[in-house]
Amino acid sequence: MSVSREHFSSKLGFILAAAGSAVGIGNIVGFPVNAAKNGGGAFLVMYAIFVFTICLPVMMAEMAVGRKTAKNPVGAYHALGGKSGPWHIAGLLGIITPFMIAVFYTVLTIWIFIYLVMTVTGNLDYLASGEGFGTIINSPYLFVSMLAVGGLVGSILSMGVKDGIERAAKVMMPALFIMLVCLVIFVLTLDNAMAGIKFYLIPDFSKLTPSVINGAMSQAFFSLSLGMGILITYGSYISRKTDIAGSAKLVAIMDTSVAFIAGLMILPAIFSFNPDVNTDKLSDSSVSMIFVFLPKIFLALQATVGYFAASVIASIFFLLVFFAALTSLVSIIEVPVSYLIDERKQSRKKALRTIFIVGGVLAVLATLSFGMVDFLTSLTNYGGKSKSLFDVIYDIFYDTILPLNGLLICLFVSYRWKKHNLNAELSEGNPGFAQSFIAKYVDFSLGTFIPFILAVIFINTVAKIFFG
Ligand code: PHE
Repeated sequence: MSVSREHFSSKLGFILAAAGSAVGIGNIVGFPVNAAKNGGGAFLVMYAIFVFTICLPVMMAEMAVGRKTAKNPVGAYHALGGKSGPWHIAGLLGIITPFMIAVFYTVLTIWIFIYLVMTVTGNLDYLASGEGFGTIINSPYLFVSMLAVGGLVGSILSMGVKDGIERAAKVMMPALFIMLVCLVIFVLTLDNAMAGIKFYLIPDFSKLTPSVINGAMSQAFFSLSLGMGILITYGSYISRKTDIAGSAKLVAIMDTSVAFIAGLMILPAIFSFNPDVNTDKLSDSSVSMIFVFLPKIFLALQATVGYFAASVIASIFFLLVFFAALTSLVSIIEVPVSYLIDERKQSRKKALRTIFIVGGVLAVLATLSFGMVDFLTSLTNYGGKSKSLFDVIYDIFYDTILPLNGLLICLFVSYRWKKHNLNAELSEGNPGFAQSFIAKYVDFSLGTFIPFILAVIFINTVAKIFFG
């Protein structure tokens, strides 16, 4: 075990860094879109059940494997499972997945960055007009912004995880939370907001279809940063005194609260701005919808506080979301970087250069696939739809591979590393753990119904996305 590996300075430092990774665009944009798309209340209930019964044990398992081995995913699977065979592939997937997710996440982070710049420069009304989004995603400014975002992420990562991430998360998380709560209070004063609240909070279980269930699981995995080697990698930087189970619980609660509150802000706004919205039509919702509705919320504020103050509030909001996206982006990129450092013996600087060059090229291509280059925009066809490069990366790595990686880690800790080792690791920093109900639940669930459910979701998603 490497003794020289840097550590988060405290339990709080680790929790903040893991929560910084978890809270991101997925909470503010992804969760409300998915809730709107998948039947509101029914989705919310499924999501909450998944977070606490399925994702939490998986999260503890990832953190425990990381701390035990003090390694990146490939190194960790090698150390506990041998250098060849299926576990080697699981380790590789644990590096490729975050790398590819970083590619599409970079595109979204750049959009947020442009929204920030536009609100700061007084263009809130343009963004709220609804035309702004289509123009922005095809504008040359994207590439300048990519350089700015890349520079920021690179400088945080070159400082190392401890200094870079802990510090940013400490300020950003509480500020974002307070901002969201204030915005929810405002949105609830808008006309027809209550219709949105009803749709969001009163479940209609007739809406519960396999695709709602798949949607809830993918969103929960993505939002908690599971199945992408992040928590193995961050786990490798936790001290042996940290209580993993307690930390995981707090991270899940924080992440879910931010997502829930973001839903409470967006869904009533959708119903308020479109009073005769047809709830069945909401199943066509997409990420672009949020990019149109968010500025509309701030423009509505104008009537109460004036255009200037509304623009200032919108700027602070986009700044906080941008920070949240940066801490997430940093955590994903740290995974392949730590792999190159540990396994390929590259210096941190060289590893960063390698990842930035290859990832940068892919991110540029993904950015061009929203209409700027025809070939990339209609790259292929499956499931009865034309797909862009961005869609392909998203379908494979967000929807399909995350549950597969979750399935692999469950099988790995239960049947290869073995449960008593997992228990011993989870008991470090929490001496009473092995006797607790949670320990029994984690032991049982990780080896039985969690992998079963994840396997069913994986197969179902492959069938749905790729074969229509
Ligand atoms: N969990 C983050 C979010 O919800 C995104 C993320 C994805 C972070 C992948 C790290 C890795 O936005």
